[in-house]
Amino acid sequence: MSPATNPTVVWSSLSAYLEELRESGIEGFPTDASFDALKSMASVPPPSTSESITAPVTPSVAGEVSHETLENVRKSLGECKRCKLSTTRKNLVFGVGNPKARLVFVGEGPGADEDEKGEPFVGDAGRMLNRIITAMGIRREDVYICNVVKCRPPGNRNPEADEIGACAPFLLRQLKSVKPEAIVALGKFAAQTLLETKEPISKLRGRFRNFHGIPLMPTYHPSYLLRSGGNSDAFWDVWEDMTQVLQLLKLPVPEKIRKA
Ligand code: URA
Repeated sequence: MSPATNPTVVWSSLSAYLEELRESGIEGFPTDASFDALKSMASVPPPSTSESITAPVTPSVAGEVSHETLENVRKSLGECKRCKLSTTRKNLVFGVGNPKARLVFVGEGPGADEDEKGEPFVGDAGRMLNRIITAMGIRREDVYICNVVKCRPPGNRNPEADEIGACAPFLLRQLKSVKPEAIVALGKFAAQTLLETKEPISKLRGRFRNFHGIPLMPTYHPSYLLRSGGNSDAFWDVWEDMTQVLQLLKLPVPEKIRKA
């Protein structure tokens, strides 16, 4: 029997290889070729409506000891060419903020400004997101901000399944590395993708869901607020959602009085 087919030899070299990967912070094998990768991200069923937002959740990302740094994740992305968005992007938009943030915001994907600068939420939607963060009494640099896909879909079209599938393992690794206490999914696309549902954002928002053991609050996208106005119902719905997030994080809720 050759060493290549000897089960003992194969097993010991596989064990050594796995140990090497573990030491470099890799704890699993994402299948980056398909939408299945994303499915596994949303594998924990959302809590039922009767469940309280602070109900204990199945420890997964939240309960794990994370060894992987964001630098590691960024390094393994490299000059990513895993999907067709790499052919049209100017810059890969990885994520920004506190690597140990208690709160992560996940958007859809970079727009033109983000593609230009290589940073998420730096255009008009970004300014609206900054307003929301400031209104919450926190600072942009204290949270972590990223997107479902890291490269701009041309013409700001929705990201496609293969593009999401290629990015999904890296988003999951980012979230595992930051290990926030709460995630806010900004807009229909981020919420539906992370929760693997087709429910409309108007139905999803306002209640915590479970994303791998982390409470996830879906809310409207800042771009939607830009279109609907600063004193619109949508704006106050977002404020209601962020109030729940602050309460979950046991942070003070600044008083906001709606204009008549
Ligand atoms: N919209 C998003 O969803 N993400 C960004 O980074 C910018 C705009």
